[in-house]
Amino acid sequence: MKQLSENSIRVLEERYLVQDHSGKVIETPEEMFLRVAKKVASAELKWGKQKDADYWEGQFFRMMSELDFLPNSTTLMNAGTGYGQLSACFVLPVRDSLSGIFDTLKMAALVQQKGGGTGFNFSKLRPKGDRVSKHGGTSSGPVSFLELFNFSSDHVKQGGKRLGANMGIMNVDHPDIFEFMRLGSKENRVRHFNLSVGITDQFMKHLETDKPWSLINPRTQKVLNKVSPKAIWEELIFGAWESGNPGVIFLDTINSKNPTPNQGEIQATNPCGEVPLLPYESCNLGSINLTHFIKSAKGKSIPDWERIGEIIPMAVRFLDNVIEVNHFPNSKIKKATLSNRKIGLGVMGWADFLIQLGIPYGSQEAVDLGEELMRFINEKSHLASQELAKKRGSFPNWEESVFAPHTPIRNATLTSIAPTGTISLIANTSSSIEPLFALAFERRNVLGEETLQTIQPQVLNFLQEKGLLSEELKQKIAEDGTCADSHELSEKDKAILQTATEIDPIWHLKHQVAFQKFTDNAVSKTINLPASTKPEDIGEIYLQAWKEGVKGLTVFRTDSGREQMLYPGLKT
Ligand code: CDP
Repeated sequence: MKQLSENSIRVLEERYLVQDHSGKVIETPEEMFLRVAKKVASAELKWGKQKDADYWEGQFFRMMSELDFLPNSTTLMNAGTGYGQLSACFVLPVRDSLSGIFDTLKMAALVQQKGGGTGFNFSKLRPKGDRVSKHGGTSSGPVSFLELFNFSSDHVKQGGKRLGANMGIMNVDHPDIFEFMRLGSKENRVRHFNLSVGITDQFMKHLETDKPWSLINPRTQKVLNKVSPKAIWEELIFGAWESGNPGVIFLDTINSKNPTPNQGEIQATNPCGEVPLLPYESCNLGSINLTHFIKSAKGKSIPDWERIGEIIPMAVRFLDNVIEVNHFPNSKIKKATLSNRKIGLGVMGWADFLIQLGIPYGSQEAVDLGEELMRFINEKSHLASQELAKKRGSFPNWEESVFAPHTPIRNATLTSIAPTGTISLIANTSSSIEPLFALAFERRNVLGEETLQTIQPQVLNFLQEKGLLSEELKQKIAEDGTCADSHELSEKDKAILQTATEIDPIWHLKHQVAFQKFTDNAVSKTINLPASTKPEDIGEIYLQAWKEGVKGLTVFRTDSGREQMLYPGLKT
């Protein structure tokens, strides 16, 4: 078992390790990994014998306890505890009736109570002021219902341990779209929601020529208003500039890659955007810790492709087993999830991996390696799922999927790039495919209560190996969170240690594009922007992202209103 960092142990004790009724921790990290490995391996009994389950229990324990691979938090927290909801991601439909809305609200509360995050598209709801009954009542509109959902999340701490997370989407042709786009502004924050405008290709074409855009009442399908698409766009990018909300999701791009188009259109994603799902579907995630897959050859650090290739089928098997032993909150979610068996294998530690390899994040070499890596992971994951299908069968909707008739496969999707917000803390590495936010940072826990302080371990190693780690430099990094104006480092070394806001936004986008090319689901990525960025610059980034086939996008401008989880430098 790998030695855990102090931060990691704190996170585990706060939220993951089993506690008794008085709140006392009664499990060690090792016992936690064993509990999860045992539960997930028990799925093997459906097709094999006890000795198979024992074998896989050992494999799963090893890959988690070595911190080579971690499943999403809900699996770590809940597997084998009796609270068996193991998926992190859910999408629930919102129907245009009071009972439909409250049914979904209740379902969302129950999902969140057990640690899951929920995404919704509110576009089916009739607009504000529209008639509700023959007797002259009017609707308060989708935005007010979104606020109600937010209020509910205020009162349901996820798994009793962290704040609820939601994605709220409104399509660009909904009559209340302007009100929706203003919802994220500083004064009017819906703190448990990420907001996204659902953009269509048709809208982007209207935008190109400024052809009037119709806002349509979803109840009657009648055009309520025609507006300039530029007016919508300007409001959208102003909101993103001011507060980071709303982001965008590109609905046609998502649906062009929908593996089960006959089951209907995808209209929403989970809270952080990495999993587009059909109504009632859920998805479980896991991430490979890239920093553990480096070897040295001729005195140079290089990716250990062989070992990456070995862990992928184990991770896919693990995630497929999770679906098997999962407890679903209700029969609709169970049916939808078991029909397509979506999983999302991804990575964490990408920035640290690049530092170890001595490649600057902001370079074509890094982007090319990202694409090569994700192509490798996606291909190997598909092969692993095809292999599983031989014994376990294809997912039930397979015959109507894009894979039929030639490629039997166990899971409709295999890959996702999740934010890995907490599991990267446990693995003590950089999150997801994000660059380092700062070389040293102070981190509030998810409940915003305590702070964890650290200089990035990979940065210390890098400087130490190069013999550059003076006390003076260490102190400077701790204070500033950057080494941009250090006199002791070469330009190349500074480029390798560039932080998220120092890296030109175009490189952020290029990484997202490179990973998206070979990710079945989507890539959760924040494009960091300097404070001086103008709204038009954000418009350019959105346009470019759409052209390059990105499925969704969030930007974060330094000094804008949204709450930050990370604070550069230890002194702030
Ligand atoms: O690192 P961890 O497994 O905790 O989660 P993540 O990779 O940061 O987020 C993955 C997904 O977990 C998100 O997209 C949400 O669906 C869900 N999540 C949530 O529901 N609530 C949170 N506070 C964090 C994540």
